[in-house]
Amino acid sequence: MIFNDLRQYLATLTELGQLKTIDGASCDLEIGAITELASFRKSCPAVLFDSIKGHPKGFRVLTNFLSNRLRERLVFGVSNDLTDPEAVLYWKGRLKNYDPIKPVEVKDGPIKENVFQDSAVDLTKLPWPKWHERDGGPYICATSSVTRDLESGYINVGSYRFMLLGKNKIVAHIGSGHHGDVIRKNIGPRASLVRSRFVSVKSRRC
Ligand SMILES: Cc1cc2nc3c(=O)[nH]c(=O)nc-3n(C[C@H](O)[C@H](O)[C@H](O)COP(=O)(O)O)c2cc1C
Repeated sequence: MIFNDLRQYLATLTELGQLKTIDGASCDLEIGAITELASFRKSCPAVLFDSIKGHPKGFRVLTNFLSNRLRERLVFGVSNDLTDPEAVLYWKGRLKNYDPIKPVEVKDGPIKENVFQDSAVDLTKLPWPKWHERDGGPYICATSSVTRDLESGYINVGSYRFMLLGKNKIVAHIGSGHHGDVIRKNIGPRASLVRSRFVSVKSRRC
């Protein structure tokens, strides 16, 4: 099955009983602790936090969304009827015939539903969980971070976790050698984070 967006994936998880929704949790350690507990359960559900303390309903945090065999297979389009060795062979075949779809440039799209610029940027409006007691701050993990090399124009997307420092300030550690890091080194302080789509994730493999 191919999912057009995260909402469609969540609807499928609900149908399959793979999603637990929790209202009213706090970003301060509670979301982290509940996620940890859920990941140790045999059912190991994905968890969707809504009505998070201090945030309006709809500002949600999703965790554990890939953390069991069934959910991984759903996302990668691998049938659950296959044994593990068969699944590996199937995946190898898919990679051999990998034929990426060329991008089509469009003027608009759902990604632009919410655009905040300049002084309107206030990242604290999003729920940023502090996962563990001794974390340096609150983090969002599974981001899609689009960066552009200002000299060559090359555009890259990578997933890097961000720590919140202020209303319009985040810090990311991009591993050495990652394309995002090459762009950062090429451009230095002029590195431009074009846009970032946040999906928060913390997961333990079950
Ligand atoms: C949930 C998640 C979080 C990640 N966090 C980081 C991170 O904080 N820093 C990092 O360098 N890579 C992180 N990665 C791995 C990179 O996204 C991955 O290596 C990617 O291929 C890097 O892209 P790039 O080479 O285009 O920069 C993360 C991956 C996932 C799935």
